[in-house]
Amino acid sequence: MSTKSIKNCIDASTEQVECYLKLLADAHKAKDNAYCRYSNFQVGAAVLAKDGNIIKGCNVENASYGLTMCAERTALFKATSEGYKPGDFEAIAIAASADDFSPCGACRQVINEFGDDMVVIFEFGGETVINTLAGILPYNFKL
Ligand code: THU
Repeated sequence: MSTKSIKNCIDASTEQVECYLKLLADAHKAKDNAYCRYSNFQVGAAVLAKDGNIIKGCNVENASYGLTMCAERTALFKATSEGYKPGDFEAIAIAASADDFSPCGACRQVINEFGDDMVVIFEFGGETVINTLAGILPYNFKL
């Protein structure tokens, strides 16, 4: 489990922080399955559903680079295909094979679709950041 200092932007309780660090450990496990032969940059995501289930995903690259799927979207789309809907998720943790990582803009927009109150956990600037989607995507676009 991560030993980095925690940037708790949402006033999460000790119990919640423990739960989110476990989710981050799941994201690290998920990144081992990354198919990333072009960038060699592994990313894993773990989504915590409100029913307690955890759905994992990794990045999946393609020779036609633009067809690459990010880890966050793999996990959320996988969950959707299993019957989960926007509002069904509490949190998403994302981990990469680099010290500094934060979810790309496209994935922030996709996470937003599933709930701007979702807790988002990632490691950046030597810290484990715990924030909400709305906190990392201000002025978020919605229909
Ligand atoms: N990647 C993700 O999986 N999530 C992100 O939020 C940013 C980027 C992947 C896509 C590509 O396979 C690799 O990281 C390098 O961009």
